[in-house]
Amino acid sequence: MPARAISILGCGWLGLPLAKHLLALGYPVLGSTTSAEKIPVIENCGIRPFLLEAAPRLKGEELSAFFNSSLLFLNIPFERQLEDPAFYKKQVVSVIEHIHQGRVEFVIFAGSTTVYPETLENAVEEAALHHPAGNARARVLLEVEQLLLSDPKFKTTVVRFGGLYGPGRPIGRFLAGKKGLSGGDRPVNLIHQQDCVRVVSEIIGHDVRGEIFNAVGDGHPTRKALYTAAAKRAGLEPPEFVREPRRPCKVVRNDKLKKRLDFVFWHPDPLNFSGPHE
Ligand SMILES: NC(=O)c1ccc[n+]([C@@H]2O[C@H](COP(=O)([O-])OP(=O)(O)OC[C@H]3O[C@@H](n4cnc5c(N)ncnc54)[C@H](OP(=O)(O)O)[C@@H]3O)[C@@H](O)[C@H]2O)c1
Repeated sequence: MPARAISILGCGWLGLPLAKHLLALGYPVLGSTTSAEKIPVIENCGIRPFLLEAAPRLKGEELSAFFNSSLLFLNIPFERQLEDPAFYKKQVVSVIEHIHQGRVEFVIFAGSTTVYPETLENAVEEAALHHPAGNARARVLLEVEQLLLSDPKFKTTVVRFGGLYGPGRPIGRFLAGKKGLSGGDRPVNLIHQQDCVRVVSEIIGHDVRGEIFNAVGDGHPTRKALYTAAAKRAGLEPPEFVREPRRPCKVVRNDKLKKRLDFVFWHPDPLNFSGPHE
């Protein structure tokens, strides 16, 4: 049985199924939430629960116990509605200060493909530094990645997730019934929850430190093709897109993930996905 304990900062939509998966593999798991009501839910899964919140400084009880594990999955969401994107950096800086006081030697950071510009047709991992997206959110995300990757006290692997779908986040409902939408010809860059869990689990299992991986499925249907088909499948009104001239569009490449981790997607193409929790 693997003995090293894993802390998951943020047992939410992705963190909780990941925690359950890691428990099933035999890892002791510590997990946090910001909500007192979720503590029994987490505890009942066999996870040691912690009530923690980064606001932006990380607060909560037994913080030193949480950072006493050897691996941290850092999974605080970068909220879109944040007025000041720099708030996110302050949250992560506070987490890093706690890592320094504890025993964590390996951090897996849930990053985002937001770091790539919307016009980058071949978004491979190293392109983010040469062709950074110019907006404030992307800048903050890249700064946070660099802070983590360059810290001499621990190793970090960054997983840049595309848009997440799966249970509770059905593709068919994303845009159903909306009219006058732009970007119908833009390819999507999505990944299913089960594949997210498997990517993180493979990184842990193979102990792959100090790397950056894009994590998106193989299929990149256009927004129009995908959201129309998914809405119809769900019995909802399909969205309507306006006609626009064709422009270069972001396509996030997953070749490194597949090669380095020998990874095969369970849900390679969102267009063909029709699971129970679509
Ligand atoms: N959604 C996307 O399409 C997308 C795309 C790319 C990357 N990502 C990244 O993927 C990760 C997982 O996303 P998700 O949708 O699973 O996130 P989520 O469920 O919204 O939140 C993850 C967890 O973080 C906790 N949390 C929220 N704010 C916090 C704070 N200020 N301090 C401490 N904990 C906090 C939540 O607490 P509660 O348990 O109290 O809710 C939850 O447990 C995130 O890092 C996100 O940025 C998401």
